[in-house]
Amino acid sequence: MTGILYFSSTGNSLYIAKRIKEALKGAVIYIPECDENQMREFDRIIIVSPVYSFGLPVQTYDIFSKLPHNIKIYVVLNYGGMAGGAEQMAYELAQKYSLEIQAVYKMKMPENYTLFITPPKQYNKMSLNSAEKKLKRIINDISNDKIHLPKKRRTKHRLYYSNKPNWHLIAENFSVNEKCTACGKCVKICPVGNIALNNGVVQFGNKCTACLGCYHRCPQKAIIYKGRNKKSRYINPFVNENDIGKSFDL
Ligand SMILES: Cc1cc2nc3c(=O)[nH]c(=O)nc-3n(C[C@H](O)[C@H](O)[C@H](O)COP(=O)(O)O)c2cc1C
Repeated sequence: MTGILYFSSTGNSLYIAKRIKEALKGAVIYIPECDENQMREFDRIIIVSPVYSFGLPVQTYDIFSKLPHNIKIYVVLNYGGMAGGAEQMAYELAQKYSLEIQAVYKMKMPENYTLFITPPKQYNKMSLNSAEKKLKRIINDISNDKIHLPKKRRTKHRLYYSNKPNWHLIAENFSVNEKCTACGKCVKICPVGNIALNNGVVQFGNKCTACLGCYHRCPQKAIIYKGRNKKSRYINPFVNENDIGKSFDL
């Protein structure tokens, strides 16, 4: 069976993972829930992940050390503007853990790092349209077992991972405004357990990895950054928002 392991905070990677599942069959598993025993059931693994700061989210980064050695591994990265050295990072990680890496792809999707700038809706539509063609090609390549590895083999673009000790500083800038109903959704969806409800008050801890899931998915748009009441939030329009973070067909 094909294992499609994904990480996602706003649904772009989930959408890609589900599309791959439709075409190639298999199980879709949310990376934070994936364990090594499950992975033994797979005869190939496809990792689907966003790009974070020209590299990989820590959840994706860390899963490489747990992947089985004797099966083919494919990586499908998606990014909002510039992927930087993320492909190389994935390739080098696969080499570091002696994995049978077959392909690393990247494809553009709508940007979800919108704390400072919000791309026009039209721009997101264009990204989603052009992503379709690219995704079809990627799925076709994977089903034909094509080798597709990055040409440039080394990079220094590792901002996100090398900044690991500083992520908690970002969390210091999140807060909730008066719209918060203390529904607890942010507590439930945070992939690193960084948010708690204490006496009906949302509190951010020091483990934030800046995925922005809470920011985009809060039903009241009550989570704000640096005190700004910015309105726009992004969720991939083709997924059920409640499915983000779930696994399918185990
Ligand atoms: C913390 C963070 C860092 C990001 N860094 C980059 C980046 O370096 N380059 C880029 O093109 N997009 C970057 N993005 C945008 C995402 O890679 C992109 O929107 C992706 O499709 C989101 O996938 P998701 O909806 O599955 O979470 C970043 C997003 C976040 C939350």
